[in-house]
Amino acid sequence: MSQTAQIEGIELHLAHPDDVPARWIGSERVREQLIAAWMVVEERDIPLNPRLIGKPGVGKTTLAYSVAKELGQEVYIVQCTMDTRPEDLLVTPVIAGAGQIAYHASPLVTAMVRGGICILDEGNRMSEKSWASLAPLLDMRRYVESVVAGLKVKAHADFRICVTMNDDASTYEIPEYIQSRLQPQIEVTFPNRAEELEILRFNVPFAEETVLEYVADFLQKAHGVNLPFSSRDGVNILRYAIKMGKRRGEPPETFLAEGIEAILGADGVGFLDSGIPADRMRGAHGTLRELDDEEYEELEDFFDDEDEEDGEPF
Ligand SMILES: Nc1ncnc2c1ncn2[C@@H]1O[C@H](COP(=O)(O)OP(=O)(O)OP(=O)(O)O)[C@@H](O)[C@H]1O
Ligand SMILES: [Mg+2]
Repeated sequence: MSQTAQIEGIELHLAHPDDVPARWIGSERVREQLIAAWMVVEERDIPLNPRLIGKPGVGKTTLAYSVAKELGQEVYIVQCTMDTRPEDLLVTPVIAGAGQIAYHASPLVTAMVRGGICILDEGNRMSEKSWASLAPLLDMRRYVESVVAGLKVKAHADFRICVTMNDDASTYEIPEYIQSRLQPQIEVTFPNRAEELEILRFNVPFAEETVLEYVADFLQKAHGVNLPFSSRDGVNILRYAIKMGKRRGEPPETFLAEGIEAILGADGVGFLDSGIPADRMRGAHGTLRELDDEEYEELEDFFDDEDEEDGEPF
C-alpha cells in the first residue's frame, strides 16, 4: 500500500521515491553550484530552483540525482514529456470503487509534502500550460494549486527542485517568466579524459583497462571537435563490445568498431575512419548540409588521403 497524507481534509496517495545506483563523476565546480543553489542560509532565505543544461548524455540527470542523494533526502524524478498535463505534475483523480475517487499525488507533490527533492527531467519537453501550473511553486509562494482535487499544497521547508534540459531540437521554448524562475543555470559539459575513464569504469566495472582507454580516447577526440558523442554512448559501446565478445568467444577489442557503428551509426563510423572534424561532417552540425553528394565525397577523399600520410587516427 502506498503512503497517504491529509491535506485540507483530503487524502492524498503518495508516490514512491526513486532509488538507483548512480554516482556523478566530474567537475567539482558544478556539484558545488548545485549544492549552493539548494542551500538556505537563514530563516528569510529560500532555495533557488536550478536548471541543469547540456548536451544529451553528459550526466545532467546523474548529477542532480547523486547530489540530491548525497544531501540525504528522498529523491523523486519526474520524466517530462510533450504530453505531460498539469494534473500529471500535481494530483490525478483515480476511480476507487463505487462512486469513490482517490487522489494520487505526483512525485513532485509527494516531494513537496515529504520534504524531498524533485528532479523535473527533460523539462524543456513540457508545454507552457504545464509549466504555468508550477509558477507559484517556483517563487516566494512555494505552493501549487490542484484544480482537480480543489486544494492548495504548500511545500515543506526541506523541499528542493531542479530541472534538467538538453539543447536538442525536439522541445518547446520555455516561457520567459518560467525561465526567470529556474535559476541559476548550471552548465554540464563534457568530462576530461581522467573523468571520462572513471565514468566508463564506474558504469562498466567489468571492462578491461585497454578497452576502457580506447573508448575514453575515442570520446575525448570527439569532444575535441564538438561531436555530440557522450559518456552514455561510450558506456553502450563498451557493453555492446563485451557482449559480442562473450558470445563469440573473442576479445571485446574485436567488436569496438562494430559497437561504435551500432551505437553511433554513420556519424560514428565516419569519425572513426577519417577523424573528420564535426564542423566538416555532414549531419553532425549542419554546416555541410548544402553540399551535394559529389562534393561531400571529394571532401571525404581529401581526409582519407590525409589519414594515409598521418597513419590511422585510432
Ligand atoms: N559525469 C558522469 N558521471 C557518472 N555517470 C555518467 C556521467 N555522465 C554520463 N554518465 C553515464 O551516462 C548515462 C547518461 O547520463 P545522464 O542520463 O545523467 O545524462 P543526461 O545529461 O541526463 O542525458 P539526457 O539529456 O539524455 O537526459 C548515465 O546512465 C551514466 O551512467
Ligand atoms: Mg537526463
